[in-house]
Amino acid sequence: MISKDSIDRIFNTVRIEEVVGDFVPLKKRGVNLIGLCPFHNEKTPSFNVNPVRNIYKCFGCGKGGNAVNFIMDHEQYSYPEALRFLAKKYNIEIEETVPDPKDDLLRDEKESLFVINTFAQKSFSEILFDSEEGRSVGLSYFKERGFTEETIRKFQLGYTLSEWSAFTDLALKAGYKEEFLEKTGLTIKNDAGKKYDRFRGRVMFPIHNLSGRVIGFGGRVLKKDEKTAKYVNSPESEIYHKSQSLYGIYFAKKAIVQRENCFLVEGYTDVISLHQSGIENVVASSGTSLTVEQIRLIGRYTKNVTVLYDGDAAGIKASIRGIDLILEEGLNVKVVLFPDGDDPDSYSRKHSHSELLDFVNGNAKDFVMFKTGLLLDEVKNDPVRKAGLVRDVVETIAKIPDPIIRSMYLKQSSAMMDIQENLLIAELNKIRRQQLKKDLPVRDIEELLPELLIPHKQQAEDLSTEIQEKNIIRLLLNFGNHELHFHEEVDNPDRPGHKDVNDIVIRVARYIVDEIANDELAFENTLYDRILKSYTELISSQTEIDPQIFLNSEDPGISELTVELLSPRYFLSENWEVMHKIIVPVEEGVLKDAVEKSVFHLKNKKVLKMIDDNQKKIKAAHEAGGDYTDLMEMEKKLQSVKMEISKVLGIDILK
Ligand code: CTP
Ligand code: MN
Repeated sequence: MISKDSIDRIFNTVRIEEVVGDFVPLKKRGVNLIGLCPFHNEKTPSFNVNPVRNIYKCFGCGKGGNAVNFIMDHEQYSYPEALRFLAKKYNIEIEETVPDPKDDLLRDEKESLFVINTFAQKSFSEILFDSEEGRSVGLSYFKERGFTEETIRKFQLGYTLSEWSAFTDLALKAGYKEEFLEKTGLTIKNDAGKKYDRFRGRVMFPIHNLSGRVIGFGGRVLKKDEKTAKYVNSPESEIYHKSQSLYGIYFAKKAIVQRENCFLVEGYTDVISLHQSGIENVVASSGTSLTVEQIRLIGRYTKNVTVLYDGDAAGIKASIRGIDLILEEGLNVKVVLFPDGDDPDSYSRKHSHSELLDFVNGNAKDFVMFKTGLLLDEVKNDPVRKAGLVRDVVETIAKIPDPIIRSMYLKQSSAMMDIQENLLIAELNKIRRQQLKKDLPVRDIEELLPELLIPHKQQAEDLSTEIQEKNIIRLLLNFGNHELHFHEEVDNPDRPGHKDVNDIVIRVARYIVDEIANDELAFENTLYDRILKSYTELISSQTEIDPQIFLNSEDPGISELTVELLSPRYFLSENWEVMHKIIVPVEEGVLKDAVEKSVFHLKNKKVLKMIDDNQKKIKAAHEAGGDYTDLMEMEKKLQSVKMEISKVLGIDILK
C-alpha cells in the first residue's frame, strides 16, 4: 500500500506535459500543447495537453485524464503501478515493499508476468557478474565483443547457467508460481511433466517495452558450431507481442525525437554496439521483417527512418519489399550500406564515434533512388527487363501518400532511368487507380464492369492452390503435434463485469483439419489431398500422429513428398523468417501465426478463383444480353470476403 501522503506528493509534483512528453512528441499551441494521439491512429494532431490544469484530452477519440490516468492507459498499468512509475520518474520516495510473489495483489496476470520477468532479469545479471560460470563464459564473451561494463549494465544483459532447470528451481523456491513461469516462457514443461529452463548456457538480452519493463528475452548461444539455434527468444505472451515491439525502443525514444531520425538495424548486438559508440537513436526489428505496428511505433516519434544494412546482396533484396511498407506509412526512408562483410555492430567496433557518424551521414542514400540504382544495375540494357523495372520503381513511388514527394521522385527516377517523365506519370496513375479500386471494391463494383468486359488478359496471378496446399502439408508433417494456445474470454460468474480467460489448447493438426473441413475447402493436388485425408482419418482416433507413418507409406508419392518436406534442405529455400523463426526454435506465437495464415492463404486463393469464375460468368451473361444482377451481388460478396481475408494477411509483409 502506498500512503495517502505519498500519493498527494506524486500528484503535486507531476507535470502532465513532461509525463506525456516522454511518449508523445508535443508542440506548443498557445498555452496548450498538441500532438498525435497515442490511443488512436491519426495523421493530424487532436491530442491536447493542458499544463495549467495538468490534464490531457484527445478530441479525436475522447480519452482524457491526469498523469496517472495517462500512464495507466498508455502502459496498461494498474493504479499503484502507475503511481510507482511516476514516483520513480520524479525521484519521490514512497513506502514500497518488494513485491511478494505470493501477494494476493498480484492476481492480475499481466502484472505477475512482469514481476517474474524482472526477477529473471535480475537473476540473470547476477549470474553474469557473480557466478563462476557467468564470469568465465558469459561476461568474458561480452567483453570480447567489446561491450563495456557500463553498457552491459545499461542493457541489463545477463547469463543463464547451462543446467537444465537452475532458473526454474530458483524461481519456484522464491515462491513464483509455476503457471506464470510457463506463461512467460521462461519455464517449459514437457509431456512427461518435467520442468526445465527455456534459456540454458546463453547470454541474455532482455527486451523492454516503452516504459522500460522487461517483456521478454533473447538468449544467444556462445559457440559458433553449436547445433542449436543461435538465438532462443521468449514466446508470445500477454505482455510480449513480437510484432508490436522493437528492441531498444526504450533506450532510443528520446534520442529519436531529438535527432528527428530513427536508425533501424537487424539485431540486438547492432543496437548495443551503436549505443556504445554514441548513436542512441537506434532500434532493431530483431531479425524479422518489419510489421505495420512496428513502423507506426517509430512514426510516433519521427517521420524519418534510416535502415542500416550489412552489405550482402541477398539480404538487401530480401528486405527491399519490407521497406516499401515504411513508405506506405508515410515515413521517409534512407538506407546505408555497410562495406561487404561489415554490419553496424562490427563497423562501430572498428571505428571511432566520429568516423561512424561520418560514414553513416556520408552514405545515407534515399531509398527510392537506391532501389532504382540497384535494379538498374541488374537489368543493364535489356529493354524487356527494363520495362519491368519501371513498373517496380513506380509501384514503390505509388505507395508514398504525399503527392508532392511522389512527383519529386518521379522526376528523379525519370532522369535516372532515362525514361520520359510523362510515361512514368501515366504508369503511376494506372497503379493508383488500381489501388483505389482495391480499397473500395464493394462500392465501386459497378464501375468495374467496363473493365471486366475487356477481353480477358492472361491472369497475371496463377490461381492454382497447390503452393498453399503444400505449405499446409509441410506444417502438418513438421508441427502437427505441436500445441497451440487460444484465449477465450468468458464472464466470471462470481465477479460480475470481470472476464476470465480460458486457455484452449489445440494441436496444429486438429486445427488445420477442422478449419479445412469447416469451410469445405478441397485440395486440388491429389497427392496432398491423400495426405490431408489420412490426417483427417487418423485424428479421429489418436491425438498424436507420427509422420513416420507417411515416411513408411507404400504409396511412393507420399513417402517421397514426406522426405522432401521433412528434410531441412527443403527449408533452405524458404524465406529467412520461416527458416529461423519456425523451424529452428519452434515458438508458439510464430508457429500459430504460420498455421493460421497457411489456411488463410489457401482461402485467399480459393476466393480469387471464385471471383475469376464469377467475372467470366458476368462477361458471358453480358455478351448474351442476359441478366447478371445476381452475379453482381455475388461479386460484391466475394469482394468483401476477399477484403476480410487480406486484412488478416495484410500485416504480413512477405506475403
Ligand atoms: N535472430 C533470432 N533467431 C535466430 C537468429 C537471429 O531471433 N536464430 C534475430 C535476433 O534478434 C538477432 C537478429 O535476428 O539479434 C539478427 O541476427 P544475427 O545478425 O544473426 O545476430 P546478431 O544479434 O547480430 O549476433 P552476432 O552479431 O553475434 O552474429
Ligand atoms: Mn548481426
